[in-house]
Amino acid sequence: MSGSGRIYLRRIALSGFRNYSSLALKLDGRHVCLFGANGAGKTNLIEAVSQLSPGRGLRSASLPDMARVQGAEKGTSWALGATLFDGDIDRAIRIEASLEGSTRGKRVMQVDGALATASSMSDLVRIIWLTPAMDRVFAGGATERRKFLDRQTLAHFSAHGSHSNAYEKAMRERNALLERDRPNPVWLDGLEARMAEHGARIARHRVVTVQRLQAAVELRPDSAFPKADLGLEGLAEAAFSKGEELSEVETMLRDQYREDRRRDARARRTLSGPHRSDLIVVHRPTGVPAALASTGQQKALLIGLILSNARALEAEEDLRNPLVLLDEAVAHLDPDRRAALFDELSALRGQAWLTGTEPELFAEFGERAQHFSVSAGQISEKDAS
Ligand SMILES: Nc1ncnc2c1ncn2[C@@H]1O[C@H](COP(=O)(O)OP(=O)(O)O)[C@@H](O)[C@H]1O
Ligand SMILES: [Mg+2]
Repeated sequence: MSGSGRIYLRRIALSGFRNYSSLALKLDGRHVCLFGANGAGKTNLIEAVSQLSPGRGLRSASLPDMARVQGAEKGTSWALGATLFDGDIDRAIRIEASLEGSTRGKRVMQVDGALATASSMSDLVRIIWLTPAMDRVFAGGATERRKFLDRQTLAHFSAHGSHSNAYEKAMRERNALLERDRPNPVWLDGLEARMAEHGARIARHRVVTVQRLQAAVELRPDSAFPKADLGLEGLAEAAFSKGEELSEVETMLRDQYREDRRRDARARRTLSGPHRSDLIVVHRPTGVPAALASTGQQKALLIGLILSNARALEAEEDLRNPLVLLDEAVAHLDPDRRAALFDELSALRGQAWLTGTEPELFAEFGERAQHFSVSAGQISEKDAS
Protein backbone atom coordinates (compact mmCIF):
# COMPACT_ATOMS: atom_id res chain seq x y z
CA MET A 1 0.00 0.00 0.00
CA SER A 2 1.18 3.48 -0.60
CA GLY A 3 0.20 6.81 0.82
CA SER A 4 1.44 8.66 -2.21
CA GLY A 5 -0.98 8.12 -5.07
CA ARG A 6 -4.01 10.14 -6.05
CA ILE A 7 -7.17 8.34 -5.06
CA TYR A 8 -10.51 8.88 -6.66
CA LEU A 9 -13.75 7.35 -7.79
CA ARG A 10 -13.94 7.22 -11.55
CA ARG A 11 -17.41 5.82 -11.71
CA ILE A 12 -20.35 5.50 -9.40
CA ALA A 13 -23.58 3.69 -10.21
CA LEU A 14 -26.67 3.45 -8.05
CA SER A 15 -29.84 1.49 -8.30
CA GLY A 16 -32.80 1.90 -6.02
CA PHE A 17 -30.84 4.10 -3.61
CA ARG A 18 -32.90 6.90 -1.95
CA ASN A 19 -34.27 9.11 -4.75
CA TYR A 20 -32.06 7.52 -7.42
CA SER A 21 -33.84 4.82 -9.42
CA SER A 22 -30.71 4.37 -11.45
CA LEU A 23 -27.64 6.47 -11.90
CA ALA A 24 -24.35 5.98 -13.72
CA LEU A 25 -21.85 8.75 -13.25
CA LYS A 26 -18.43 8.85 -14.87
CA LEU A 27 -15.74 10.98 -13.27
CA ASP A 28 -12.32 12.05 -14.48
CA GLY A 29 -10.42 12.17 -11.19
CA ARG A 30 -10.92 15.83 -10.30
CA HIS A 31 -12.85 16.92 -7.24
CA VAL A 32 -16.63 16.77 -7.48
CA CYS A 33 -19.06 19.64 -6.84
CA LEU A 34 -22.77 18.90 -6.68
CA PHE A 35 -25.27 21.72 -6.78
CA GLY A 36 -29.04 21.81 -6.90
CA ALA A 37 -32.16 22.73 -5.00
CA ASN A 38 -33.03 21.38 -1.57
CA GLY A 39 -34.22 17.80 -1.86
CA ALA A 40 -32.54 17.23 -5.22
CA GLY A 41 -30.41 14.32 -4.02
CA LYS A 42 -26.99 15.87 -3.35
CA THR A 43 -26.60 14.51 0.16
CA ASN A 44 -28.05 11.19 -0.97
CA LEU A 45 -25.25 10.83 -3.48
CA ILE A 46 -22.43 11.49 -1.03
CA GLU A 47 -24.22 9.29 1.47
CA ALA A 48 -23.92 6.55 -1.17
CA VAL A 49 -20.19 7.25 -1.44
CA SER A 50 -19.89 7.02 2.36
CA GLN A 51 -21.21 3.44 2.15
CA LEU A 52 -17.77 2.46 0.92
CA SER A 53 -16.45 2.94 4.44
CA PRO A 54 -17.18 0.85 7.55
CA GLY A 55 -20.17 1.76 9.69
CA ARG A 56 -23.48 3.24 8.74
CA GLY A 57 -22.44 6.09 6.52
CA LEU A 58 -22.84 9.82 6.89
CA ARG A 59 -26.49 9.81 7.95
CA SER A 60 -26.15 6.78 10.24
CA ALA A 61 -29.11 5.37 8.34
CA SER A 62 -30.16 1.74 8.36
CA LEU A 63 -30.00 -0.24 5.12
CA PRO A 64 -33.79 -0.34 4.58
CA ASP A 65 -34.04 3.44 5.02
CA MET A 66 -31.76 3.93 2.05
CA ALA A 67 -33.86 1.72 -0.24
CA ARG A 68 -35.89 3.72 -2.69
CA VAL A 69 -39.47 4.45 -1.74
CA GLN A 70 -41.86 5.33 -4.50
CA GLY A 71 -45.48 5.96 -3.71
CA ALA A 72 -46.63 3.09 -1.52
CA GLU A 73 -43.85 0.95 -2.89
CA LYS A 74 -40.84 0.29 -0.75
CA GLY A 75 -37.67 -0.88 -2.44
CA THR A 76 -36.52 -4.35 -1.47
CA SER A 77 -32.85 -3.63 -1.92
CA TRP A 78 -30.35 -1.18 -3.26
CA ALA A 79 -27.00 -1.51 -4.92
CA LEU A 80 -23.96 0.60 -5.51
CA GLY A 81 -21.22 0.02 -8.03
CA ALA A 82 -18.01 2.00 -8.05
CA THR A 83 -14.70 2.05 -9.80
CA LEU A 84 -12.02 3.25 -7.46
CA PHE A 85 -8.63 4.28 -8.74
CA ASP A 86 -6.59 3.36 -5.69
CA GLY A 87 -3.45 5.24 -6.62
CA ASP A 88 -2.21 2.26 -8.53
CA ILE A 89 -4.95 0.41 -10.34
CA ASP A 90 -8.71 0.43 -10.79
CA ARG A 91 -10.79 -1.59 -8.36
CA ALA A 92 -14.33 -2.62 -9.19
CA ILE A 93 -16.47 -2.41 -6.07
CA ARG A 94 -20.02 -3.58 -5.69
CA ILE A 95 -22.17 -3.21 -2.59
CA GLU A 96 -25.58 -4.73 -2.33
CA ALA A 97 -27.90 -4.13 0.58
CA SER A 98 -29.45 -7.37 1.57
CA LEU A 99 -32.87 -6.69 3.06
CA GLU A 100 -34.10 -10.29 2.99
CA GLY A 101 -32.86 -13.83 3.50
CA SER A 102 -29.93 -15.03 5.57
CA THR A 103 -27.76 -11.98 4.91
CA ARG A 104 -30.62 -9.63 5.85
CA GLY A 105 -29.52 -6.26 7.18
CA LYS A 106 -26.00 -6.69 5.85
CA ARG A 107 -24.05 -5.12 3.08
CA VAL A 108 -22.71 -7.71 0.68
CA MET A 109 -19.49 -6.32 -0.69
CA GLN A 110 -17.35 -7.39 -3.59
CA VAL A 111 -14.03 -6.12 -4.84
CA ASP A 112 -13.00 -7.24 -8.33
CA GLY A 113 -15.65 -9.94 -8.25
CA ALA A 114 -14.58 -11.51 -4.94
CA LEU A 115 -16.47 -11.18 -1.66
CA ALA A 116 -14.87 -8.60 0.59
CA THR A 117 -15.09 -7.85 4.31
CA ALA A 118 -15.67 -4.39 5.74
CA SER A 119 -12.09 -4.28 6.96
CA SER A 120 -10.61 -5.23 3.59
CA MET A 121 -12.77 -2.47 2.10
CA SER A 122 -11.34 0.04 4.52
CA ASP A 123 -7.81 -1.00 3.55
CA LEU A 124 -8.86 0.05 0.07
CA VAL A 125 -10.42 3.40 0.80
CA ARG A 126 -10.66 5.76 3.77
CA ILE A 127 -13.48 8.27 3.89
CA ILE A 128 -14.01 11.25 6.17
CA TRP A 129 -16.84 13.75 6.09
CA LEU A 130 -18.40 16.88 7.46
CA THR A 131 -22.17 17.32 7.57
CA PRO A 132 -24.47 20.05 8.88
CA ALA A 133 -25.46 17.71 11.73
CA MET A 134 -21.90 18.05 13.06
CA ASP A 135 -22.41 21.78 13.63
CA ARG A 136 -23.59 20.89 17.13
CA VAL A 137 -20.40 19.06 18.01
CA PHE A 138 -18.89 21.79 20.17
CA ALA A 139 -22.08 23.27 21.58
CA GLY A 140 -23.57 19.90 22.48
CA GLY A 141 -22.63 17.24 24.98
CA ALA A 142 -19.69 14.86 25.21
CA THR A 143 -21.61 12.19 23.27
CA GLU A 144 -21.57 14.21 20.07
CA ARG A 145 -17.88 15.00 20.38
CA ARG A 146 -17.01 11.41 21.17
CA LYS A 147 -18.92 10.30 18.07
CA PHE A 148 -17.07 12.87 16.00
CA LEU A 149 -13.73 11.72 17.38
CA ASP A 150 -14.56 8.05 16.92
CA ARG A 151 -15.49 8.71 13.30
CA GLN A 152 -12.12 10.37 12.73
CA THR A 153 -10.45 7.51 14.60
CA LEU A 154 -12.18 4.87 12.49
CA ALA A 155 -10.50 6.31 9.41
CA HIS A 156 -7.13 5.62 11.07
CA PHE A 157 -7.97 2.27 12.69
CA SER A 158 -10.41 0.10 10.82
CA ALA A 159 -10.79 -2.19 13.88
CA HIS A 160 -12.01 0.74 16.01
CA GLY A 161 -15.64 0.09 15.13
CA SER A 162 -15.60 -3.58 16.05
CA HIS A 163 -13.91 -2.82 19.39
CA SER A 164 -16.63 -0.23 20.07
CA ASN A 165 -19.37 -2.72 19.25
CA ALA A 166 -17.81 -5.43 21.42
CA TYR A 167 -17.35 -2.94 24.27
CA GLU A 168 -20.97 -1.75 24.10
CA LYS A 169 -22.24 -5.32 24.01
CA ALA A 170 -20.26 -6.37 27.10
CA MET A 171 -21.35 -3.20 28.89
CA ARG A 172 -25.04 -3.83 28.15
CA GLU A 173 -24.67 -7.35 29.53
CA ARG A 174 -22.92 -6.03 32.65
CA ASN A 175 -25.62 -3.43 33.19
CA ALA A 176 -28.31 -6.08 32.86
CA LEU A 177 -26.47 -8.36 35.27
CA LEU A 178 -26.10 -5.57 37.83
CA GLU A 179 -29.89 -5.17 37.90
CA ARG A 180 -30.21 -8.62 39.45
CA ASP A 181 -30.38 -9.14 43.20
CA ARG A 182 -27.19 -11.14 43.50
CA PRO A 183 -25.22 -10.83 40.30
CA ASN A 184 -22.74 -13.63 39.77
CA PRO A 185 -19.30 -12.11 40.46
CA VAL A 186 -17.55 -14.51 38.12
CA TRP A 187 -19.78 -13.44 35.24
CA LEU A 188 -19.16 -9.83 36.14
CA ASP A 189 -15.41 -10.47 36.16
CA GLY A 190 -15.66 -11.92 32.67
CA LEU A 191 -17.73 -9.06 31.25
CA GLU A 192 -15.53 -6.43 32.87
CA ALA A 193 -12.43 -8.12 31.47
CA ARG A 194 -13.97 -7.87 28.01
CA MET A 195 -14.88 -4.22 28.54
CA ALA A 196 -11.32 -3.51 29.71
CA GLU A 197 -9.81 -5.36 26.75
CA HIS A 198 -11.84 -3.46 24.15
CA GLY A 199 -12.00 -0.23 26.11
CA ALA A 200 -8.22 0.03 26.38
CA ARG A 201 -7.86 -0.43 22.63
CA ILE A 202 -10.57 2.14 21.94
CA ALA A 203 -8.77 4.65 24.15
CA ARG A 204 -5.39 3.92 22.59
CA HIS A 205 -6.77 4.40 19.07
CA ARG A 206 -8.20 7.76 20.15
CA VAL A 207 -4.97 8.90 21.73
CA VAL A 208 -2.94 8.04 18.64
CA THR A 209 -5.50 9.71 16.39
CA VAL A 210 -5.50 12.90 18.43
CA GLN A 211 -1.68 12.93 18.38
CA ARG A 212 -1.69 12.53 14.59
CA LEU A 213 -4.38 15.18 14.25
CA GLN A 214 -2.50 17.66 16.41
CA ALA A 215 0.69 17.03 14.44
CA ALA A 216 -1.23 17.69 11.21
CA VAL A 217 -2.72 20.86 12.70
CA GLU A 218 0.80 22.17 13.35
CA LEU A 219 1.90 21.36 9.81
CA ARG A 220 -1.03 23.10 8.15
CA PRO A 221 -0.22 26.62 7.09
CA ASP A 222 -2.09 29.36 8.91
CA SER A 223 -5.26 29.76 6.95
CA ALA A 224 -8.86 30.83 7.02
CA PHE A 225 -9.47 27.73 9.12
CA PRO A 226 -8.11 28.31 12.60
CA LYS A 227 -5.84 25.93 14.42
CA ALA A 228 -7.10 23.96 17.36
CA ASP A 229 -5.52 22.63 20.52
CA LEU A 230 -6.85 19.17 21.18
CA GLY A 231 -7.13 17.17 24.34
CA LEU A 232 -8.85 14.06 25.61
CA GLU A 233 -10.75 13.67 28.84
CA GLY A 234 -10.89 10.11 30.12
CA LEU A 235 -8.99 7.92 32.56
CA ALA A 236 -7.72 5.38 30.05
CA GLU A 237 -6.79 8.07 27.52
CA ALA A 238 -4.88 9.97 30.23
CA ALA A 239 -3.00 6.81 31.16
CA PHE A 240 -1.90 6.24 27.56
CA SER A 241 -0.88 9.85 27.23
CA LYS A 242 1.37 9.33 30.24
CA GLY A 243 3.01 6.45 28.41
CA GLU A 244 1.39 3.48 30.13
CA GLU A 245 1.25 0.14 28.36
CA LEU A 246 -1.86 -1.54 27.01
CA SER A 247 -1.82 -4.26 29.69
CA GLU A 248 -1.52 -1.68 32.48
CA VAL A 249 -4.47 0.29 31.16
CA GLU A 250 -6.51 -2.89 30.81
CA THR A 251 -5.82 -3.77 34.44
CA MET A 252 -6.65 -0.26 35.55
CA LEU A 253 -10.00 -0.34 33.74
CA ARG A 254 -10.84 -3.78 35.10
CA ASP A 255 -10.13 -2.63 38.66
CA GLN A 256 -12.21 0.48 38.08
CA TYR A 257 -15.25 -1.49 36.87
CA ARG A 258 -15.01 -3.89 39.82
CA GLU A 259 -14.78 -1.03 42.30
CA ASP A 260 -17.75 0.73 40.71
CA ARG A 261 -20.17 -2.21 40.85
CA ARG A 262 -22.34 -0.93 43.70
CA ARG A 263 -22.42 2.61 42.39
CA ASP A 264 -23.19 1.46 38.83
CA ALA A 265 -25.91 -0.88 40.10
CA ARG A 266 -27.61 2.05 41.84
CA ALA A 267 -27.23 4.27 38.78
CA ARG A 268 -28.38 1.37 36.56
CA ARG A 269 -25.60 2.12 34.12
CA THR A 270 -21.83 2.13 33.88
CA LEU A 271 -20.72 5.55 35.02
CA SER A 272 -17.08 5.53 34.02
CA GLY A 273 -15.04 4.16 31.18
CA PRO A 274 -14.05 5.08 27.63
CA HIS A 275 -17.74 5.32 26.69
CA ARG A 276 -17.80 8.57 28.69
CA SER A 277 -14.64 10.21 27.32
CA ASP A 278 -14.68 13.66 25.79
CA LEU A 279 -12.71 15.47 23.13
CA ILE A 280 -11.49 18.89 24.26
CA VAL A 281 -11.04 21.51 21.55
CA VAL A 282 -9.66 25.00 22.07
CA HIS A 283 -9.83 27.70 19.38
CA ARG A 284 -6.14 28.66 19.36
CA PRO A 285 -6.35 32.20 17.97
CA THR A 286 -8.51 33.29 20.91
CA GLY A 287 -7.59 30.61 23.47
CA VAL A 288 -11.28 30.07 24.06
CA PRO A 289 -12.86 26.59 24.37
CA ALA A 290 -14.63 25.72 21.14
CA ALA A 291 -17.96 25.55 22.97
CA LEU A 292 -17.71 29.30 23.64
CA ALA A 293 -16.55 30.27 20.16
CA SER A 294 -19.01 31.89 17.75
CA THR A 295 -21.02 29.72 15.38
CA GLY A 296 -18.87 30.86 12.47
CA GLN A 297 -15.66 30.16 14.39
CA GLN A 298 -16.95 26.69 15.30
CA LYS A 299 -17.72 25.91 11.68
CA ALA A 300 -14.28 27.10 10.57
CA LEU A 301 -12.67 25.01 13.35
CA LEU A 302 -14.54 21.92 12.19
CA ILE A 303 -13.49 22.41 8.58
CA GLY A 304 -9.93 22.89 9.82
CA LEU A 305 -10.12 19.63 11.79
CA ILE A 306 -11.41 17.67 8.81
CA LEU A 307 -8.69 19.13 6.59
CA SER A 308 -6.14 18.28 9.28
CA ASN A 309 -7.41 14.73 9.50
CA ALA A 310 -7.14 14.37 5.74
CA ARG A 311 -3.51 15.43 6.04
CA ALA A 312 -2.94 13.21 9.06
CA LEU A 313 -4.19 10.23 7.05
CA GLU A 314 -2.05 11.20 4.10
CA ALA A 315 0.99 11.32 6.38
CA GLU A 316 0.54 7.65 7.31
CA GLU A 317 2.57 5.52 4.91
CA ASP A 318 0.44 2.44 5.33
CA LEU A 319 -2.98 4.08 4.96
CA ARG A 320 -4.73 5.09 1.77
CA ASN A 321 -5.25 8.75 1.11
CA PRO A 322 -8.81 9.63 2.09
CA LEU A 323 -11.82 10.77 0.13
CA VAL A 324 -13.30 13.87 1.77
CA LEU A 325 -17.06 14.51 1.72
CA LEU A 326 -18.20 18.03 2.62
CA ASP A 327 -21.97 18.39 2.80
CA GLU A 328 -23.19 22.01 2.70
CA ALA A 329 -19.88 23.17 4.11
CA VAL A 330 -19.35 26.14 1.80
CA ALA A 331 -22.67 27.96 1.94
CA HIS A 332 -21.81 29.96 5.03
CA LEU A 333 -18.25 30.81 4.08
CA ASP A 334 -17.39 34.20 2.61
CA PRO A 335 -15.79 34.11 -0.87
CA ASP A 336 -12.22 34.38 0.50
CA ARG A 337 -12.73 31.45 2.81
CA ARG A 338 -14.33 29.42 0.04
CA ALA A 339 -11.31 30.07 -2.16
CA ALA A 340 -9.00 29.09 0.72
CA LEU A 341 -10.93 25.85 1.20
CA PHE A 342 -10.67 24.96 -2.49
CA ASP A 343 -6.93 25.67 -2.40
CA GLU A 344 -6.45 23.40 0.60
CA LEU A 345 -8.54 20.64 -0.98
CA SER A 346 -6.52 20.94 -4.17
CA ALA A 347 -3.37 20.21 -2.19
CA LEU A 348 -4.84 16.89 -0.98
CA ARG A 349 -4.30 13.65 -2.83
CA GLY A 350 -7.77 12.22 -2.38
CA GLN A 351 -10.91 13.28 -4.19
CA ALA A 352 -13.19 15.76 -2.42
CA TRP A 353 -16.97 15.76 -2.88
CA LEU A 354 -18.82 18.98 -2.07
CA THR A 355 -22.47 19.95 -2.08
CA GLY A 356 -24.24 23.31 -2.16
CA THR A 357 -27.40 24.84 -3.51
CA GLU A 358 -25.90 27.27 -6.06
CA PRO A 359 -23.28 26.68 -8.77
CA GLU A 360 -21.67 30.05 -7.94
CA LEU A 361 -20.55 28.64 -4.59
CA PHE A 362 -18.01 26.54 -6.45
CA ALA A 363 -16.94 29.07 -9.08
CA GLU A 364 -13.49 29.55 -7.53
CA PHE A 365 -12.82 25.84 -7.79
CA GLY A 366 -12.90 26.30 -11.57
CA GLU A 367 -11.25 23.58 -13.63
CA ARG A 368 -9.87 21.87 -10.56
CA ALA A 369 -13.26 20.22 -10.08
CA GLN A 370 -16.07 18.72 -12.10
CA HIS A 371 -19.35 20.54 -11.58
CA PHE A 372 -22.66 18.69 -11.62
CA SER A 373 -26.22 19.87 -11.46
CA VAL A 374 -28.47 17.58 -9.41
CA SER A 375 -32.21 17.60 -9.86
CA ALA A 376 -34.77 15.01 -8.74
CA GLY A 377 -32.30 12.14 -8.78
CA GLN A 378 -30.79 13.12 -12.17
CA ILE A 379 -27.29 14.47 -12.65
CA SER A 380 -25.73 16.41 -15.49
CA GLU A 381 -22.31 17.93 -15.84
CA LYS A 382 -21.95 21.67 -16.33
CA ASP A 383 -19.02 23.83 -17.34
CA ALA A 384 -17.20 25.47 -14.46
CA SER A 385 -19.09 28.73 -13.99
N1 LIG B 1 -35.59 6.00 0.78
C1 LIG B 1 -35.92 7.01 -0.06
N2 LIG B 1 -36.59 6.75 -1.21
C2 LIG B 1 -36.92 7.73 -2.06
N3 LIG B 1 -36.64 9.01 -1.86
C3 LIG B 1 -35.97 9.34 -0.73
C4 LIG B 1 -35.58 8.35 0.21
N4 LIG B 1 -34.95 8.98 1.23
C5 LIG B 1 -34.94 10.29 0.93
N5 LIG B 1 -35.55 10.51 -0.26
C6 LIG B 1 -35.75 11.79 -0.94
O1 LIG B 1 -34.49 12.36 -1.20
C7 LIG B 1 -34.63 13.78 -1.16
C8 LIG B 1 -33.59 14.37 -0.27
O2 LIG B 1 -32.39 14.20 -0.88
P1 LIG B 1 -31.11 14.93 -0.32
O3 LIG B 1 -29.98 14.27 -1.01
O4 LIG B 1 -31.11 14.93 1.15
O5 LIG B 1 -31.34 16.38 -0.86
P2 LIG B 1 -30.30 17.57 -0.97
O6 LIG B 1 -30.03 17.72 -2.44
O7 LIG B 1 -31.01 18.74 -0.41
O8 LIG B 1 -29.09 17.19 -0.21
C9 LIG B 1 -35.98 14.11 -0.65
O9 LIG B 1 -36.76 14.54 -1.73
C10 LIG B 1 -36.48 12.80 -0.09
O10 LIG B 1 -37.84 12.67 -0.24
MG1 LIG C 1 -28.39 17.95 1.53
